This record gives sequence, C-alpha cells and structure tokens, in this order.
Amino acid sequence: MPLPCSPLNPYNTRAMSNPRFAIAILAAGKGTRLKSKLPKVLHRIAGRPLLSHVVHAASTIVAPSDIFCIIGHEADRVRAEIAPLGTEFIEQREQNGTGHALMQCREALAAYDHVLVLSGDVPLMRPETIASVRDFHTARGAAMTILTAEPPDPFGYGRIVRRTVHGVSSDQVEAIVEQKQLTPEQEDIGEINSGIYAFDVRELFARIDQLSTDNPHGEFYLTQIAGILQRDGKHVLALRTPNASEVLGVNTRRELAHLDSILRERKTRELMDNGVTIFKPETVLIDAGVSIGADTVIEPFVQLLGETSIGEDCLIRSYSVLTNTQVADGVRVNQGTIAEESCVERGAIIGPYARLRQGSEIGPEAHVGNFVETKKTKLARGAKANHLTYLGDAEIGERANIGAGTITCNYDGVNKHKTIIGARAFIGSDTTLVAPVRVGDGAYVGAASCITKDIPDDSLGLTRPQLVIREGWALEKRAKLEAAKEKK
Ligand code: UD1
Ligand code: MG
Repeated sequence: MPLPCSPLNPYNTRAMSNPRFAIAILAAGKGTRLKSKLPKVLHRIAGRPLLSHVVHAASTIVAPSDIFCIIGHEADRVRAEIAPLGTEFIEQREQNGTGHALMQCREALAAYDHVLVLSGDVPLMRPETIASVRDFHTARGAAMTILTAEPPDPFGYGRIVRRTVHGVSSDQVEAIVEQKQLTPEQEDIGEINSGIYAFDVRELFARIDQLSTDNPHGEFYLTQIAGILQRDGKHVLALRTPNASEVLGVNTRRELAHLDSILRERKTRELMDNGVTIFKPETVLIDAGVSIGADTVIEPFVQLLGETSIGEDCLIRSYSVLTNTQVADGVRVNQGTIAEESCVERGAIIGPYARLRQGSEIGPEAHVGNFVETKKTKLARGAKANHLTYLGDAEIGERANIGAGTITCNYDGVNKHKTIIGARAFIGSDTTLVAPVRVGDGAYVGAASCITKDIPDDSLGLTRPQLVIREGWALEKRAKLEAAKEKK
C-alpha cells in the first residue's frame, strides 16, 4: 500500500510504487590508498562515517529497507556501524571490482524496476542531486544514466566519451574510460564519471556477465557496462551536474580532510541561513548530526560533535566542546566547558571550565561553575555548584547549594554509591560526602565536614574539630627559634 505523503514520510511515493526503485551503495573496497587499518567507508568526516553520509542522503529517496549496502572488506565492522540506520546488506566476499560488486545484487534487485547506484566513498552527494538522476532516468526511459561533472582536476576519474551527432556532442554516452586506459586525446576530456548511476534492472542484469577483467587491475569494472549497453542500442545517458564538488570521492587522506572542510562549511552556512549566529565560522567544528535553534550565538573555536542539539537563544562561548549533548533553550555555556552525553535544561548556566561527563542532567536555571565535574548526576531546578567540586552518582535537590570544594566520595574501590542531597540543602565548602549517604531537605552541612551518615531534614551535620586559639603563641615561638639560632 502506498504510504501517505506527510512530513513523517519523506519518501517519494511515486518512485516507490511505480516504478520501484532500489539504491545500491558500493562499499566493499579496502581503500588501499588511505593506508589504514580501518575500512575506507568507516573513515569519518563531519563526525560520521563516509558510508553513513551516503545512507542518510539515500534514505530521503527510498525507505532504508530498499537500500542495499554492498560490503566486503571488514564486513562485520561496517555492518555493526551502519545497521542502526536500517539498511540491508549484501556481501561481496572477494573484491573483484565495482562490476563484480553489483553482480552480487542480482537476486536482491530482482524485485525492483530500477536501481540507483551510489558510492560509499562519494559522501557529499545531496538528496536533490540523487533525485534529479532518478527523475531524468525515468523521464528519458534510459537503460543507464550516469551522473557526470567537470571538476577543476579530472585526474584519476573515469572520463565520459559522448557520442557526437552531426559534429555536436549529444547526451548519449559511448563509453566510460578509466584513467589508466585513456588514449592521449582522451586525456583532455574534462567530464568525469561521478560513480553515481541509475540502471534499468533488467537491462543491467541481462548483460552484466559480459563484463571482462581485461584492464590494468584485472577487475570487473562497472563502467564497462556503458559501452556494452550502448552497442546494444540502449539509451546510455549522461546527466551533468553543475555542482562538481558534490561528486568528489575520497581515495586519500588529503581528500578526506578536504571533503571534511567542505561538509562543515556547508553545515555552518545552513545553520546561519536558519538564524544561528556563528562568529568566525571557519574556526568552529560542527558535525553533520548537530542541530541548533534560531538566535543562538556560537563563539569562535567551539566544537559541537556527534548528535548534539542546542535550543534557541543560547550562548555557547569559545573553546567549549559538546559531544552528544542536549541543551534546551536559553542556556549559557561559558568558555572552556566540556560536556558529553549529558543534558542541560532551560535557562541553566554552565562553566567556565566545567566538565559534564556522561549522564549529567542539569535542571532548569541550575548553575554549574568553574572547575566543577559531574558524572551521572542530576541537579534539580535552581541547584548550584559554582566552584571546584566533584559530583558523581549524585542527586541534588531543588535550590540546594553546594559549596566550593565539595567532593562526593562515590567509589569504595569496588562499587559506586549514590549521594542524595535534599531540596534547599546547604553544603558548606570543603565537604566530603562518603556515599551511600543522604543529606535531608533543608539540612546544613558545616564547612570542612566529612559526612559518613545520613543527615535528617532541617538538621546540621558537622565534623569540624574544635578551633583552638592561643593568644601570643606566635610571639613566644619566634623568640625561642631566634634564641636557638644565635647560640649556633
Ligand atoms: C570509480 C569509477 C570511476 C569513477 C570514480 C568516481 C570504476 C571502475 N571506476 O573509480 O570511473 O570516476 O569511481 O569516484 O568503477 N568497491 C566495491 N567492491 C569492489 C571495488 C570497489 O564495493 O570490488 C567500492 C569501493 O568501496 C568504493 C566504490 O566501490 O566505495 C568505488 O571504488 P574505487 O576503488 O574507489 O573506484 P575509483 O577508482 O574511485
Ligand atoms: Mg573511489
């Protein structure tokens, strides 16, 4: 049954139901030129694996269950990382080339009319561009459509040889020629194969067995199918994109860094267009998975990583690094704050130099100040820990005040224990709270105490030794010391 068109269903129902489109993503290669232990498609740019960028774009065109990732080198590792995105996987046990990769899909693709082929190492492709290949391919009734581009430096890419009709180049393609097989005249061709294609499934698999390994790498090149289809009188068409940077592939570490910069620049531009102020955007590091609300200000040298989300009207000051952290509206994060896997509610103030470790929940209008570290700790509304404190495995009640230098001793060498501090409690400076322990609502703890037992509500807990004052003691002491020195 076709899915209704709603914001919750971004898939193009026309493409899903009639004709049926699948997407195959080539991702089995090793990536020899990266000189890495990690498979190429798991290298990250803008905080996500290369393949994950491609899957995200593909998921706006078809449902994840219609996406087939072809994996091979370190297949288990790739599968583990990408499986949460809901795609299917097909294994290519030996990597005998891009054509061989598609041969593995024959059965899985039998249920579809067309397949869009994307490359796991071409991560900048925008959904609009993929959709334009699909629409052009179906509108023109092509057997194969090739997305092409004219980048400033075509070296290394396969080149497009177009058919000339009456001396004019047409959009029909004669062949794709790989870099190492170019004739001297073909070296001047500036139009490259992006590695993104649409195929009529039946036409493709009727001929895929004709691919040969007669090339410098002895592999089955998918690109050879263009010439085979064309010779059989089928439509093989080139669709040139004006956005050459979208089709850039990653084969080397330099390309990895270059594409990372392009993606991050695209991200900051998008955020600014949506009402976020970013000063010195070239200095900030914002991952692809980050969202930021309007009227939030991001200062220079901020890093927002992973799936971090920031609400509206926040101020994120310089040198703060937030990873997988949720920040509500109207929060101020002062300089040098480090946060990971935490959440901060509306109107809270954090830092400077605070560290929120995993599982920190900072309530509305709460304050976490300089040199305060929290871990698996919840501060309720309006609670404050402003200076030099460690709060681990703790629950801090509403409007409680934690004095400077307070430490929760949460670890006994084997297990972790909880500290509970009631609403409006006041913890004096330099207190150690030996968990498990509870300080009641409205209770006071005197400065420099070591609390090892529960303190009832509205009571005082104090372990401070008696203060001794001896008037004139220092004068006598100095006199004695000086007399002893003169004797020597
Ligand atoms: C390929 C194209 C080239 C095009 C370029 C665009 C071929 C023969 N050449 O070259 O015309 O200009 O992409 O970026 O297709 N892969 C597999 N199984 C394999 C081999 C590769 O899944 O057996 C995957 C790789 O993981 C990669 C993609 O296919 O994601 C492309 O392979 P790669 O070796 O990078 O091909 P290129 O040399 O870039
Ligand atoms: Mg490549």
